[in-house]
Amino acid sequence: MPRLEGKVAIITGAAGGMGSAAAQLFTKEGAKVLLVDREEEGLVKLANLLPADQVSYFVADVTDEEATKAFVAAAPKRLGGLDIALLNAGIEGQIGRIDELPVSAFDRVMAVNVRSVWLGLASLMPAMRATGGSIVITSSGAGLRGSAGLAAYSASKHAVLGLMRSAALEGAKDRIRVNSINPAQTRTRMMAAIDAHLDAAGRTADPAAKIPLGRYAEPSEVASMMLFLASDESSFCTGSVYPVDGGSMS
Ligand SMILES: NC(=O)c1ccc[n+]([C@@H]2O[C@H](COP(=O)([O-])OP(=O)(O)OC[C@H]3O[C@@H](n4cnc5c(N)ncnc54)[C@H](O)[C@@H]3O)[C@@H](O)[C@H]2O)c1
Repeated sequence: MPRLEGKVAIITGAAGGMGSAAAQLFTKEGAKVLLVDREEEGLVKLANLLPADQVSYFVADVTDEEATKAFVAAAPKRLGGLDIALLNAGIEGQIGRIDELPVSAFDRVMAVNVRSVWLGLASLMPAMRATGGSIVITSSGAGLRGSAGLAAYSASKHAVLGLMRSAALEGAKDRIRVNSINPAQTRTRMMAAIDAHLDAAGRTADPAAKIPLGRYAEPSEVASMMLFLASDESSFCTGSVYPVDGGSMS
């Protein structure tokens, strides 16, 4: 039996690398998905690749409270339920040392990467209270250690772990599970942008050489862990961090 048969999932950042890999895997495993992103073109392109009776899309800025309430309400209306949410939208923000960047750079990253998760949880928890559910938050390897040049990003990915753990405690009695996935470098637009910046700034070392498995992850490899956490196979997992990092934390 498909691993997400009968489930409805919201995926934010669905037009991006990891979100679209998750959408493809979740629909293959039987889920209906509500794709959310601020980039309509990417959403339409992805929606056209997926079975029409398993997909709907919603253009929204995840930092916007009303928009978040609206897409959470849209899932049961359009797809008949709400069992899973992958809070995955994120930005890397400006790259540079703390003393080089304006505070507005910090504020923007915290809005997209942290405020969005707060808003998502605030709407999802009541919506899932009667039935239970699984919420997966995309943190990062940068949420488990510092990242020179990406301090705001790293801080934001640490911050969502606090939200994740607290929401797991608040949701447990209603069978709402909340976990984070913490990928290392994964081949998406975001990683390409970070690498281009660092290479232009004079980096010569191969960043993949620092990863014990010797390469970046493919988005589909991260999506496999998202699937496990989304599905009932992880029914006793909540409040935890799940690295997908080729051995980087070893
Ligand atoms: N690629 C990596 O190496 C890596 C590693 C660890 C964690 N992550 C995290 O994975 C998640 C997905 O990133 P990705 O690598 O797929 O990058 P990506 O840039 O391909 O995808 C990010 C998506 O989020 C969307 N988004 C950004 N701001 C938004 C907003 N305000 N409202 C709605 N949508 C918005 C973008 O339009 C984009 O489609 C992010 O949270 C990122 O921080 C990425």
